[in-house]
Amino acid sequence: MIELKHVSKTFVMKKSRASARRLLHAVQDVNLSLSQGKFIAVVGESGCGKSTLGRMVSGLIPPSAGDIVIDGKTMTQAPRHAWKKWAQLVQLIPQDPYAALNPVRTIKTSLAEPLLYHHKIRRGELNQRLESLLDMVGLDAGNVLEKFPHQLSGGQRQRLVVARALTVDPQYLVADESVSMVDVSLRLEILESMKQISRQRQLGLMFITHDFRVARYIAQGGEIVVMYLGRVIERGPTEEILRSPQHPYAQSLISAVPILEGRERRLEEIVPRNYELSVDGVPEHGCPFQPRCPFATEKCVKESPELRGVDHPEHLVACHYAEPRKLIAAAN
Ligand SMILES: Nc1ncnc2c1ncn2[C@@H]1O[C@H](COP(=O)(O)OP(=O)(O)OP(=O)(O)O)[C@@H](O)[C@H]1O
Ligand code: SF4
Ligand SMILES: [Mg+2]
Repeated sequence: MIELKHVSKTFVMKKSRASARRLLHAVQDVNLSLSQGKFIAVVGESGCGKSTLGRMVSGLIPPSAGDIVIDGKTMTQAPRHAWKKWAQLVQLIPQDPYAALNPVRTIKTSLAEPLLYHHKIRRGELNQRLESLLDMVGLDAGNVLEKFPHQLSGGQRQRLVVARALTVDPQYLVADESVSMVDVSLRLEILESMKQISRQRQLGLMFITHDFRVARYIAQGGEIVVMYLGRVIERGPTEEILRSPQHPYAQSLISAVPILEGRERRLEEIVPRNYELSVDGVPEHGCPFQPRCPFATEKCVKESPELRGVDHPEHLVACHYAEPRKLIAAAN
């Protein structure tokens, strides 16, 4: 099991030579656990810290504070060799498969290297291993092995980076916006194959996305974690979150069309999309969502809400006024 205990990541920003250093709190005090066989979707808009979280879970960057514990071992204080093992246990599937593949290597070379190194298999067995690996992600070995990344379609490349992640027998996958660069028509297929593989191999899957529909699809029976400005503002079992979101931001993400009763305006109007996120955009005190929140009060300006349980024991919400507001259909 991977456990995140009060994990934060702060980047030091320097605006100009003259200005002082400023801190950007990309991830703040996140607690999570991912066990084998479990699916978690991390959802939130651009810049909310999803990739930073995923990179910490994958051991690619260290947290600034807090601990990451794998199977009871605190990795953040572990020696170098333990980090090597971590890098194998948790594989990150990046957003841009093209950038992740070496453009001057054939697919065969790219896949063979980790297989030969990690499994110490003999060259004679290689082709058979490659075929079964590619078959698992829905690719025909005969069609792709001798090609270079640029000769493949976006969907094929995406499947390929999944196959490459599997060469080292990970126990966990962290998929960062893994289908966002793929044609809409192929997304569902690739998501389904990723789910199937994870189920078959009992992998823990953390799927990062800005699209609630993708989160809902991937985390059926699992957990949804909603992030806002580096913080988890709502989390819980997927079906529970979908049935009864209680944070206004989560409600706005889920209800792209419906509106909230008593606030007869579309939430998208009240909570504008593409809100500029910056060091300056985060209020120093109070609720981080307060500048955009239609329900904010004086208390929200002064006091930062803690994540607390509501209704269901695993359903946590960081809002002073968390409640399952009724969604009604928009007039147009
Ligand atoms: N290496 C870095 N140095 C400085 N700031 C960084 C660094 N990496 C990320 N950030 C900042 O941290 C914040 C969170 O970034 P992150 O990439 O984790 O967001 P995200 O949710 O993945 O966004 P997107 O949906 O656009 O991929 C952003 O403000 C980003 O600019
Ligand atoms: S704490 Fe206040 S500002 Fe923050 S989401 Fe809840 S109602 Fe809105
Ligand atoms: Mg990202």
